[in-house]
Amino acid sequence: MTPDAAVTILPPLQPDEARHAAAVLQAVRDAIATHGGWLPFDDYLRIVLYAPGLGYYSAGSIKFGRHGDFVTAPELSGLFGRCVARQCARVLQLTGGDVLELGAGSGALAVGVLSTLAELGALPQHYYILEVSAELRARQEQRCASLPPALRARLRWLEALPATPIAGVILANEVADALPFKRFTITSHAPLEGGVGLSPEGALIEAERPADALLAAEVAQLAASLSTPLPPGYRSELCPMLKPWIVALGDSLSRGALLLIDYGLGRREYYHPQRGHGTLRCHFRHRAHDDALLHPGLQDITAWVDFTRVAEAAVEAQLEVGGYCTQAAFLLANGIESELAASAASAAGPGSAAAEQARLASEARQLLLPGEMGESFKVMALTRGLAAPLRGFEYQDLRRSL
Ligand SMILES: C[S@@+](CC[C@H](N)C(=O)[O-])C[C@H]1O[C@@H](n2cnc3c(N)ncnc32)[C@H](O)[C@@H]1O
Repeated sequence: MTPDAAVTILPPLQPDEARHAAAVLQAVRDAIATHGGWLPFDDYLRIVLYAPGLGYYSAGSIKFGRHGDFVTAPELSGLFGRCVARQCARVLQLTGGDVLELGAGSGALAVGVLSTLAELGALPQHYYILEVSAELRARQEQRCASLPPALRARLRWLEALPATPIAGVILANEVADALPFKRFTITSHAPLEGGVGLSPEGALIEAERPADALLAAEVAQLAASLSTPLPPGYRSELCPMLKPWIVALGDSLSRGALLLIDYGLGRREYYHPQRGHGTLRCHFRHRAHDDALLHPGLQDITAWVDFTRVAEAAVEAQLEVGGYCTQAAFLLANGIESELAASAASAAGPGSAAAEQARLASEARQLLLPGEMGESFKVMALTRGLAAPLRGFEYQDLRRSL
């Protein structure tokens, strides 16, 4: 996701937003009290992002697009979904079967991928969507209602990963960065775990405690895998859920590819000594900042993805890392230039055609340029039983950086 502009002053809350934030704050206070005065950061995220009816993803805020808090690639441009569909088509030609999209947001990618797969004559048997937020699922159903009946008939919403593994493609755009993560600080002794406590006035405050044995072991393992030691005071995050999540996804794929698209880095760059404050980012109405305690339930809170951790999980899941490259390289290898030309050519009328071409060119720039989404976003394919290399990784192979 990307904020539209770097603006530092956050806009004021509307009265209904202030009431909602107060209700979420109370839920966090209750959880802090139940847990003896301190909540680990990942548990805080479980409330402020996902608590039913309260969390950012589970309550009614707009979230995506110009009137929301951030723009994701499928929201930004239909070109993204068309290129992803081209990659899906190649896999489906080899495997047959289904597409399973995780965390489908507003449904924009589902609509784009299914429509393009229909044009390419490569429709999956089913297009499954697994979404943890009831509110977003309702929004996805509404958005997908615009599809022709023959495509709608292929859609199925799942409550959990399929009991029988599917062949085909599993897609996750900006889902891994939305998984709750832990924060830690290196000290000259054992690491500290970041969490949330209460001030004497009842305000949320950041508070650290000695890391428990599990987190301390995770941090020690992480530090041991780096060539440069992490100095005392170094603060970052890690996502313990990521590996079991990938392993579970691997168990759900009999043959085909799991495509993960997210902003992230290989471990050496992620945990570089110069990145001493981590990668946590909050998004509120297109303003990006790092105050995770602000407006609980009203802002998105994310961290970048450690793609080395994803690759390690793939080994555990007996998946192959079939490719790893920047979003720009992936989209170029999947024909974004010809998609752009075709979309521009199909624009109607001379006046509107020029405006449409300018709009499409601007969208392509945002998807591709290094200073926009082109480089910070990576695409990783985890594959099972695919003999042929994936087209999307023909232009760039960053696997050695993992
Ligand atoms: C940042 S949004 C991205 C939405 C959409 N993929 C897009 O690119 O516009 C994250 C999405 O992941 C969903 N999500 C979070 N954790 C999930 C999980 N464990 N399984 C499935 N979806 C999840 C959220 O509810 C939300 O729809």
